[in-house]
Amino acid sequence: MVNIENKVIAITGASSGIGEATAKLLARNGAKVLLGARRTEKLEKIVEEIHASGGTAEFKAVDVTDREDVKAFIGFAKDKFDRVDVIFNNAGVMPLSPMNALKEWH
Ligand SMILES: NC(=O)c1ccc[n+]([C@@H]2O[C@H](COP(=O)([O-])OP(=O)(O)OC[C@H]3O[C@@H](n4cnc5c(N)ncnc54)[C@H](OP(=O)(O)O)[C@@H]3O)[C@@H](O)[C@H]2O)c1
Repeated sequence: MVNIENKVIAITGASSGIGEATAKLLARNGAKVLLGARRTEKLEKIVEEIHASGGTAEFKAVDVTDREDVKAFIGFAKDKFDRVDVIFNNAGVMPLSPMNALKEWH
């Protein structure tokens, strides 16, 4: 695995599923992670788990449909960790369409 020690990584949709698993894996490998989502009680619990296993993590409520909220989320990461190396834009939708519709998503 690439060395991610002390990389600052902000993750949206981190209160469950892929975002939660990614946050835990990255923290286990030495990254400093900021977890965001709407359900802060879930984020708080996950951050506690990361701290308990020796990782570095913070959380902040974010609704990715609100541009100002997203700006504040990234600003929070900069305040806490001095910079942001990676943003994992995980919260969102997965557009589906039949293959024979030949849709392209940009
Ligand atoms: N699971 C799969 O097989 C798969 C495959 C390909 C792609 N994906 C995509 O990967 C992403 C994560 O999937 P998942 O399976 O891990 O889903 P999930 O378990 O349902 O998690 C979705 C996460 O997004 C957060 N979220 C939803 N709306 C939000 C909003 N408006 N603002 C901020 N956070 C929001 C949810 O937290 P809150 O409700 O607390 O805000 C939750 O933490 C999705 O975009 C999905 O379409 C999933």
